[in-house]
Amino acid sequence: MKKIAVIYHSGYGHTAHFAKHVAEGASQTKLVSVDLITSDEASKKIDSLTAYDGFIWGSPTYMGNVSGPFKTFMDATSAAWMKGSWKNKWGAGFTVSGSPSGDKQSTLISMAILAAQQGMFWMPLGINNESYSGVKPEDAANRLGSSLGAMATASNEAAETAFVAGDLKTAKLFGARFAEVVASH
Ligand SMILES: Cc1cc2nc3c(=O)[nH]c(=O)nc-3n(C[C@H](O)[C@H](O)[C@H](O)COP(=O)(O)O)c2cc1C
Repeated sequence: MKKIAVIYHSGYGHTAHFAKHVAEGASQTKLVSVDLITSDEASKKIDSLTAYDGFIWGSPTYMGNVSGPFKTFMDATSAAWMKGSWKNKWGAGFTVSGSPSGDKQSTLISMAILAAQQGMFWMPLGINNESYSGVKPEDAANRLGSSLGAMATASNEAAETAFVAGDLKTAKLFGARFAEVVASH
């Protein structure tokens, strides 16, 4: 069975909550094994991450881009870049921000560039905005209309109540799609 890792940073628990839903969606397919790893932990074991077939990266959007700790992880992956050891692996990304836009597209672009630098294949979200087919916006998958990766907006409440249903649905569908893509290539 192929292996994937969901590698994320979360300062206040919101991105961690979204990451759990992504991992759940991937696990429920029973097509791959899934590990949830913080970016701090991942930064310390870049070499051992070569055992994975794909990575889903997650970061909150801080000041219009990935968070500082997630960037530390990105920089640590230069050890894999030197060896070309992540070439042809699969990658995908998600981000959580406070504002509906919040400039979070930049966060996904940074992750996609990291995948390109590593010679990896990038999986776009590939989920239609369900509000176009009549689903109430707050319940709709990909209600924010993202393409490059998964996006969510979280309120300032605790993570358990900070998300609308549509964003958590997106997380699960996104994780499942990544598992299917990795398992079939
Ligand atoms: C230092 C910092 C910078 C932030 N910058 C942005 C931003 O640029 N755009 C935005 O919409 N939200 C911004 N936020 C809000 C966070 O993206 C939001 O609270 C998110 O849910 C935090 O995720 P976390 O709990 O996983 O850290 C920022 C929060 C912090 C702490």
